[in-house]
Amino acid sequence: MSTSNTFDDKVVRQFAVMTVVWGIVGMTVGVLIAAQLAFPELNFDLPWLTYSRLRPLHTNAVIFAFGGSALFATSYYVVQRTNHTRLFAPGLASFTFWGWQLVILLAAITLPLGITTSKEYAELEWPIDILITVVWVAYAVVFFGTIAKRKVKHIYVANWFYGAFILTVALLHVVNSLEIPVTLTKSYSIYSGAVDAMVQWWYGHNAVGFFLTAGFLGMMYYFVPKQAGRPVYSYRLSVVHFWALITTYMWAGPHHLHYTALPDWTQSLGMIMSLVLLAPSWGGMINGIMTLSGAWHKLRTDPILKFLIVSLSFYGMSTFEGPMMSIKTVNALSHYTDWTVGHVHSGALGWVAFVTIGSIYALLPKLWRTDGMYSTKLIDVHFWVATIGVVFYIASMWIAGLMQGLMWRAVNPDGSLTYTFVEALKATYPYYYARLFGGLLVLTGMFIMAYNVYKTWKSKTSDEPIAIAEPA
Ligand code: HEM
Ligand code: HEM
Repeated sequence: MSTSNTFDDKVVRQFAVMTVVWGIVGMTVGVLIAAQLAFPELNFDLPWLTYSRLRPLHTNAVIFAFGGSALFATSYYVVQRTNHTRLFAPGLASFTFWGWQLVILLAAITLPLGITTSKEYAELEWPIDILITVVWVAYAVVFFGTIAKRKVKHIYVANWFYGAFILTVALLHVVNSLEIPVTLTKSYSIYSGAVDAMVQWWYGHNAVGFFLTAGFLGMMYYFVPKQAGRPVYSYRLSVVHFWALITTYMWAGPHHLHYTALPDWTQSLGMIMSLVLLAPSWGGMINGIMTLSGAWHKLRTDPILKFLIVSLSFYGMSTFEGPMMSIKTVNALSHYTDWTVGHVHSGALGWVAFVTIGSIYALLPKLWRTDGMYSTKLIDVHFWVATIGVVFYIASMWIAGLMQGLMWRAVNPDGSLTYTFVEALKATYPYYYARLFGGLLVLTGMFIMAYNVYKTWKSKTSDEPIAIAEPA
């Protein structure tokens, strides 16, 4: 078969397999830091194993290595399938794979060594920042180049979400990383004071909105209809969802900086725009869930669909909770507490990891041309173990967070504090154990997935490239 009418799936396979690998690595570090919070002796008095260095290793590994690989894999797959064409510049696509793996490797070396810019989710130092930019430009060329050479007129909505994610992340990364290098491993941000904080949280919040949300919505808009065997519930709603989401997200960043030196009106604007954000978020969630109408019975037998639909429920939950937490008076209670950490993981684990896991389970048998995954039963076991794990994680953090916030603000009639900080910390320990238990369950699920993926790969029948279907 000539290669001109077959898909370029090698890079999709590479990224898909690395998604599972980085998922295990990132979540193992997550479990380790959860254990360190419960048992501080696990810091071992070694600088490169301290919590402060491993925490950014965890966030970088799960967001950029695990989430990033999933986004690369699925976007390269979806853009080819929905546009009935092979990738533009496959060599460049291969470069994005190796370049991205190098970024991850450099992160895994530099962060434990304590080399950091100290900007959250943008900790990597300037030489790595430059490498990220080069890889990202290559990614944009491949993705938009593929759309440009499409064989169908219409650009399916999943591509809009992926496209917005690619463009916005480029903008965020370049603007927030502007820094003056002093040595190979040290630089200073060009921003200072309140401006630095504002730029950082414009970046941080939009990293949530575009890296952890828009790209994964692209995944949702392709894999939910495919797995349900139904068209998207409302295509019109998906377009409204797209424009409303990308317009609103940009303005919500200041909710990370309530009661700081940021001008008060900016904080209030961030709060209002965060409340507005509830509408497009829920529009998208409803659109995804309602895609199952007429096919609800499939949830009984298809654990992949369970992952996808439960991910949407967590998306709905976290995008309800987020706007509530952005109300200044609520934030006065939640900020600095474990409530934030619970919110983060209902979004990052419940939504991002679940939609990723479901999509990768749906994708791999297509790439390896097997009759489904090796074991549907094991996917079901994974689903239940992971769901119980996530519930343990977020419920314990919610309770811990509320308790901390209330204990910190409690005052006696004479105005003195009712509790010392250490008392609040001691009261948190049981919840740290519960979170650790939940994290271990989630990680166990990832190992079950790895085994299932390995067995599926073993049973693949053909390495022949897959032919591109003629547009209908
Ligand atoms: C086994 C699964 C996981 C465990 C046990 C775990 C554990 C942790 C722990 C202990 C922290 C530090 C909390 C603190 O500062 O008090 C943390 C932070 C964080 N994790 Fe995870 N995590 C897991 C999975 C994930 C995944 C899959 C993602 C993203 C896709 C993620 C994203 C984050 C983020 C963004 C933070 C920083 C939160 C903040 O600054 O408030 N985690 N995680
Ligand atoms: C309508 C949507 C959302 C809104 C309005 C929102 C709002 C908020 C608010 C108010 C905070 C607490 C800020 C603070 O007190 O420091 C927060 C933290 C956070 N949220 Fe959300 N959230 C939303 C959805 C999500 C989703 C879906 C995810 C993950 C996929 C997510 C990830 C995070 C992360 C990682 C943080 C912690 C940032 C940090 O301090 O390091 N959020 N969000």
